[in-house]
Amino acid sequence: MIGTMDWGMANRLSRVIQPDGKAFFLPIDHGYFQGPTHCLERPQETIAPLLPYADALFVTRGVLRSAIAPSLDKPVILRVSGGTSVVGGDLANEGLTTAIEEIVRLNASAVGVSVFVGTSYERQTLLNLSQLVNQCEPYGIPVMAVTAVGKELEKRDARYLALACRICAELGAKVVKTYWCEDFEKVTGGCPVPVVMAGGPKCNTEREVFEFVHDGMSRGAIGVNLGRNVWQAPHPVPTIRGLRAIIHEGASVDDAVDVFQQAKAETV
Ligand code: 5RP
Repeated sequence: MIGTMDWGMANRLSRVIQPDGKAFFLPIDHGYFQGPTHCLERPQETIAPLLPYADALFVTRGVLRSAIAPSLDKPVILRVSGGTSVVGGDLANEGLTTAIEEIVRLNASAVGVSVFVGTSYERQTLLNLSQLVNQCEPYGIPVMAVTAVGKELEKRDARYLALACRICAELGAKVVKTYWCEDFEKVTGGCPVPVVMAGGPKCNTEREVFEFVHDGMSRGAIGVNLGRNVWQAPHPVPTIRGLRAIIHEGASVDDAVDVFQQAKAETV
């Protein structure tokens, strides 16, 4: 796909998706609707030891400017939708928050926007995605669509997620971020652009995280956009190292647990 794109678009995409075709995005954007999220109160401290193992950072312009050094040597995926909060009326009622001039000024390698398919704000958020694609394409900036479900976590089944992901690709997203689910090949198989998995609420053990990520990768995902299951984990660096082994080295779940245990022993 990259070969047929304009140089700028291809160059940005090749910064966020690695030469092996895989990707580990580290999201720290949660505060844009839920405030000072546990373990993200001081984002710069949380991410410092994790950055060497991430391929890109998913972040809002506010946290980027206030907490991240401009010498950052990782590509930035800028979160550019919002306008709602966990204490407001409806999380789905999002708009676009960040102008194209800002996106260019911040040297974003990509941008991310949420869509809420099946809600009262479906049309509005899908048009947000389309409008963002219209604004970003002339500058060669790829758009990542985020298939969000708000508080309705039970929506995360293959039929719904396949529908939502396909619509995002049809409207011009270059990458789609969605939740892992059973039969994940039904989601990736119907989506003509790369799919990355978000984590959702924290799993109980590292093995559980490794298992769903391994399963999703074996069913066509190119990687993850994984936040809470990394930086809220009891051992964030060993956890991200185990996950990276699955994504970039094709490690099995048992291998990833070994990587995790070894990294944990090194940090004691
Ligand atoms: C929420 C997001 C996050 O980037 C996404 O949900 C991934 O984080 P987590 O793995 O914690 O679910 O879009 O704003």
